Amino acid sequence: MIKKIVFFSSLVLLTSGLCRAEVWKAPDQERAKERSKQVVPFIKEYKDDHKIARKMSLMDAGISLNDVQDVYFLMDSPIIKDREDHYGPVRFSHKRHANLAKDCSKCHHFRPKDEAALETTRCSACHQDAFNPEYPERIGLKAAYHQQCIQCHQEQAKGPVDCKGCHLQNVPDHKQLVQLPDNPDPFQVTAECLRCHDAQAEDMLTTAHWLWKGPSPYTTGHGKEVMHGKGTTALNNY
Ligand code: HEC
Ligand code: HEC
Ligand code: HEC
Ligand code: HEC
Ligand code: HEC
Repeated sequence: MIKKIVFFSSLVLLTSGLCRAEVWKAPDQERAKERSKQVVPFIKEYKDDHKIARKMSLMDAGISLNDVQDVYFLMDSPIIKDREDHYGPVRFSHKRHANLAKDCSKCHHFRPKDEAALETTRCSACHQDAFNPEYPERIGLKAAYHQQCIQCHQEQAKGPVDCKGCHLQNVPDHKQLVQLPDNPDPFQVTAECLRCHDAQAEDMLTTAHWLWKGPSPYTTGHGKEVMHGKGTTALNNY
C-alpha cells in the first residue's frame, strides 16, 4: 500500500513537473524579444550637457543601479534591420555593464530636453537613420552602438572588438539550400556552392591556397631556382 502511494505521488510530482516545464518561459527573454522590436518616437531636442555636468546631474537626480530594471537587452532594432540583416540579435548584458562602469553617463551621454522624460532614454530615441539631413551631427543607430561599444572595449582592453564576439551569423539551413542530384560528381558540388558563394570563390583565388609557389630543390635535374606551385606550373585543381 505504502509502495503504491509513494509510486503514485512520485508520478504526480513527475508529471506536474513536466507540465510546468512546458508552460514555464524565462520572463526576461520574452520581454527582451518584445522590446527589441519597438521603434520609439524620435527625440529632437536634447540637453547639451558636457561630460562632467552630465555625470553630476545624473547623481543629483539620484539615478543609480536601482534604476536598472533589465538584466540584459537583445539588440535587433527594426531601424537597422529594415536596411540590413546579416546577423541575429546582439545580446547586451546591461546590468553587468552598469555594474562595471559604475557611471551611467559613460553610455547615457545625453538626455531629452523635456524634463519629464526618462534620464536614461534609449539610444534609439535619438539615433535612428544614418545621414538624417536635419540632424547631421547625429550618427545613425548602428554607428552609435558600434562606436560606443567598441571604443570602450578597445580603451579598456576588455570585451569583444571582433565581429564574432558580438554577432552570430545568420546561417540558413544548407539542407534546404543545396540542390544536388543523387550521387553528384565533384564538379556539380562545386558549381552548386558557387551559385551562392561567388564572392568567397573570388577571395579564394587571391589567397596562398591558390597562388602558392616555392623553390623545388629536389626536382631531378633542376636547381634551387626552379619555382613550382599552383601560382606557376602546377595544373592540378585541388
Ligand atoms: C561590441 C559589440 C559589437 C561588435 C564588436 C561589432 N558589432 Fe556590429 N552591431 C552591434 C550592435 C549592438 C548592433 C545593433 C544590432 C541591432 O539593433 O540590430 C550591430 C549591428 C550590426 C550590423 C547591422 C545589423 C545586421 O544584422 O546586419 C552589421 C552589418 C554589423 N553590426 C556588422 C559588424 C561587423 C562587420 C563587425 C566587425 C568589424 C561588427 N559588427 C562588430 C555590436 C557589435
Ligand atoms: C555600457 C553602457 C551602459 C551603461 C554603463 C549603462 N547603460 Fe543603461 N542602457 C544602455 C543601452 C545600450 C541601453 C539600451 C538602449 C536602447 O535600447 O536603445 C540602455 C537602456 C537603459 C534603460 C531603459 C530605457 C528605456 O527607455 O527602456 C534604463 C532605464 C537604463 N539603461 C538605465 C541605466 C542606469 C540607471 C545606468 C547606471 C546605473 C545605466 N543604464 C548604465 C547602456 C548602458
Ligand atoms: C537625448 C538624445 C541622445 C541619446 C538618448 C543618446 N544620444 Fe548619442 N548623441 C546625441 C547627439 C545630439 C550626438 C551628437 C553630439 C555632437 O556631436 O555634438 C550624439 C553622438 C553620439 C556618438 C558620437 C560620438 C560622441 O560621443 O559624441 C555616439 C557614439 C553616440 N552618440 C552613441 C550613443 C549611444 C550608444 C546611446 C545610448 C546608450 C546614445 N548615444 C544616446 C544624442 C543622444
Ligand atoms: C564603458 C565601457 C563599455 C561600453 C560602452 C560597452 N562595454 Fe561591453 N564590456 C565592457 C567591459 C569592461 C567588458 C568585460 C567584462 C568582463 O570581462 O568581465 C565588456 C564585455 C562585453 C561582452 C562580453 C561579456 C558579456 O557580458 O557578454 C559583450 C558581448 C559586450 N561587452 C557587448 C557590448 C555591447 C553590445 C556594447 C554596446 C551596446 C558594449 N559592450 C558597451 C565595457 C564596455
Ligand atoms: C542557395 C544559396 C547557397 C548555396 C547553394 C550554398 N550556400 Fe553556403 N551559405 C549561404 C548563405 C546565405 C550563408 C550565410 C551568409 C554567408 O556567410 O555568406 C552561407 C554560409 C556558408 C558557410 C559559413 C558558415 C558559418 O558558420 O559561418 C559555409 C562554410 C558555407 N556556406 C558552405 C557552403 C558549401 C560548402 C556549399 C555547397 C555544398 C554551400 N555553402 C552552398 C548560401 C548558400
